[in-house]
Amino acid sequence: MISKRVKEMIPSVTLAQSEKIAMLKKQGINVIGFNIGEPDFNTPQNIISKAKEAYDLGYTKYTPAAGLIELREEICNKFKKEYDLDYSINEVIVSSGAKQSLTNALMAIVDPGDEVIVPTPCWISYIEMIKLTGGIPVLVEMDEKGGFDLDIDRIKVKITDKTKAVLINSPNNPTGAVYKKNDLEKLGRLAVHNNFYIISDEIYEKLVYDGESNYCTASISEEIKDRTITINGVSKSYAMTGWRIGFAVGPKKIIKAMSDYQGHTTTSPNAPAQYASIEALKNSEKFVEDMRKEFEKRRQYIVNRLNEMPEINCFMPKGAFYVMPNIKNFYGRQYKNYIINNPMDMCDYLLEESRIAVVTGAAFLAPDNIRISYSNSLENIKEGMNRMEEALNKLK
Ligand SMILES: Cc1ncc(COP(=O)(O)O)c(C=O)c1O
Repeated sequence: MISKRVKEMIPSVTLAQSEKIAMLKKQGINVIGFNIGEPDFNTPQNIISKAKEAYDLGYTKYTPAAGLIELREEICNKFKKEYDLDYSINEVIVSSGAKQSLTNALMAIVDPGDEVIVPTPCWISYIEMIKLTGGIPVLVEMDEKGGFDLDIDRIKVKITDKTKAVLINSPNNPTGAVYKKNDLEKLGRLAVHNNFYIISDEIYEKLVYDGESNYCTASISEEIKDRTITINGVSKSYAMTGWRIGFAVGPKKIIKAMSDYQGHTTTSPNAPAQYASIEALKNSEKFVEDMRKEFEKRRQYIVNRLNEMPEINCFMPKGAFYVMPNIKNFYGRQYKNYIINNPMDMCDYLLEESRIAVVTGAAFLAPDNIRISYSNSLENIKEGMNRMEEALNKLK
């Protein structure tokens, strides 16, 4: 028998969609993928070389549970250089992806019955991770009209004496929202006043546009830093999703608990990938900036194209590589035997009729939107938007 804990997990909707897309591709059908949650760039060669070197030098053994000391030092340097934040190596943990850092953080602070507030739309794994700890996800809907910005008043009314943490994600998957300094400061003050933690997932930190940059919640004040666990990693910033290296910085006692937990569940993250990650953090500025500029160009193009399509509304996101047009205006419309009543219907229709793969917003608690990832070449984006426009025009 499967455990109650795992049985109650909601399986990933996006995985089911990926299966359908894979089937079409297998039949040789040209599907343009806008469903992808990772950069379409290759990991830079200097990082790959460091991994090869690590294998050749025999750096293929377990590392300390919290990660290589040299990598943790480099992570401290990063936070000092980028945010003027002082962390020592015992306030840093390296994990097998940001996902594991998040799980560790929740395992370290959440007891059964504790509440964790999550602004929505959100990355759906948060909810399942919280439930696995025995915690209760408290979902707070952010307003599309406000570009899904952090709405502190809506969060404030959900705080109870059971609130253990607020889990935020900026730049955001799926909305692309980048939270404003002012709102993060307000959230920080609430955390101090009401004695809860902020888990701040900043995995898309390098992908911010319009001349702005990520604002690291922990950098607001010492008091707020003491209540913040920052989650980050190399996956999105350095096109290293498959290397599985993430990290977290935060208060020493929490990092120690995360490390104890990680020690028993995975021992340590992949050793050669950790060596390669030192190189990523040290020597990849140009790569990151070139990638960011390319994403910025694509974002501009795709949002313009979407807003030119009749009845589509799409706000200009400030970060990450996703756009989330609202498709409500199409509900009740039909072409052949396709009837659109929700975003999943739209995803199926676009896949079947125009061979483009997009993801239902429902998978991120955005009930009237679809998520389009522009992690694809400008050429494919142009072709994909042509196909989408044509398919939408057929719906009557
Ligand atoms: C918001 C968010 N956090 C964390 C992750 C996971 O990152 P990693 O691949 O380093 O585990 C993702 C990946 O899609 C994400 O979108």
